[in-house]
Amino acid sequence: MKITIINSSPKGKNGKTGLFLDYFMRGMQSASDVSINYIFLSEIINKTCNGCFACWYQNIGSCIIKDDFNAIYQKIINSNYVLYASPLYALMFNGAMKSFLDRLSMITHEPYKEYDKATKKTYKTINLKLPPAIIFMVGNMVGQSPFKISSYYFKEFFLLLKVDIIAEIYRPESEFFQLPINLKLQEEILNSYTQGGSELVTNGFISKNIIAKMTEDIVEPNVFINGHNIFWKICQKFKIHPKNFDFEKYSFMKLN
Ligand SMILES: Cc1cc2nc3c(=O)[nH]c(=O)nc-3n(C[C@H](O)[C@H](O)[C@H](O)COP(=O)(O)O)c2cc1C
Repeated sequence: MKITIINSSPKGKNGKTGLFLDYFMRGMQSASDVSINYIFLSEIINKTCNGCFACWYQNIGSCIIKDDFNAIYQKIINSNYVLYASPLYALMFNGAMKSFLDRLSMITHEPYKEYDKATKKTYKTINLKLPPAIIFMVGNMVGQSPFKISSYYFKEFFLLLKVDIIAEIYRPESEFFQLPINLKLQEEILNSYTQGGSELVTNGFISKNIIAKMTEDIVEPNVFINGHNIFWKICQKFKIHPKNFDFEKYSFMKLN
């Protein structure tokens, strides 16, 4: 089984998207026949679609921009599943992911052929169906609501491309995972990613209770707001980069 992971975080494997993906991959690797193509967009693609339409009339189904996009596309179409993983930026998946999805639109080169009266939507014929998708996002706000726009977008986009979405995983309070807040719950949540990865390769889906654990909040909104505000006030006052924050020195308990 081949799985392609597209990680659009500018921090690559060192970001929080990478952290949760690592646990997920451990689960996927529990099956013996799984091979994973792990792609970091920030390392290989930095060009956006230039709107030339060459992929729709000239080099049909292929992008004329000279970078790694066509090679990634080949990996995608030869996969059983594709994970689209992104950090949440300004209430959406980030720009690198959007640029990638724009360029993936090259497969919609067929003219419009269908109109669905019920939904009042027009569809192109998609001759080459992309593999089923798993949407995988991390953000630092509380709860599922900040991911609503991304979820709506991904559903519409993949409906247009006739791609099945196997699971949507929206991890809130991502940055709080560098704090020892509730170690037991944090470990349970991280382990649920491994269970989710394992379920995907074993059963072809991820069960609802595992997704619920993967996306569970670790702190209440008021604790989140206090912690977040104190954290950034200290970073701003002492010009500390968030990743260098000394939690021993400024533990939340002491600050309260
Ligand atoms: C420019 C920017 C905008 C962000 N906007 C949001 C946001 O709207 N909602 C949210 O929950 N987190 C937001 N975040 C926080 C990131 O989603 C969070 O830090 C995430 O863990 C980053 O993932 P990464 O480490 O893999 O890059 C934002 C971060 C940045 C840098």
